[in-house]
Amino acid sequence: MKISKIDRGFLLAAIGVMLIVLSINAQADKQDIGKREYESACAVCHGLTGRGDDGPLKPYLVKPVPNLTVLAKNNKGVFPFDKVFQIIDGRQEVATHGPRNMPVWGNAFNNQTSLFYDNYPEQDKESGARSRILALTEYLYRLQD
Ligand code: HEC
Repeated sequence: MKISKIDRGFLLAAIGVMLIVLSINAQADKQDIGKREYESACAVCHGLTGRGDDGPLKPYLVKPVPNLTVLAKNNKGVFPFDKVFQIIDGRQEVATHGPRNMPVWGNAFNNQTSLFYDNYPEQDKESGARSRILALTEYLYRLQD
């Protein structure tokens, strides 16, 4: 079968589009929202690995920074997902126990946009905040020893 000039042009364009789609998919696979949120908001205190040993703000903190890789180990091997979510959010905790050393991320995420959740509508900041806390909780789950 002979491929005409027009067909050939179309074929090349189709292959081009396919390659673009494939490369976008590959990039999407690499994007790890929880990890990126963690590195931009938490690593300054808890360290890049979550062990609390290399965060640049560590020397300035009054309280010791907990090791976030032993949350499951300290809970009989089960990662306390809901508890960790609530600790990161912090709004409930502050209501019952008063101020704490760690920022209240539930409030912070409602007030500052994220590099990764920028597309939430203005009136639905709460969904953005919860999605970010959820992504962070899931990332901490993956950091467990
Ligand atoms: C300003 C420093 C600082 C930053 C930034 C910070 N934390 Fe914390 N974090 C602390 C301190 C200090 C504690 C110990 C409890 C307290 O004093 O509030 C803590 C406690 C925790 C705990 C409870 C650990 C346990 O053993 O009970 C979790 C979970 C946690 N942080 C997750 C995060 C996540 C996720 C982020 C990023 C969104 C973050 N932290 C950002 C300082 C920080």
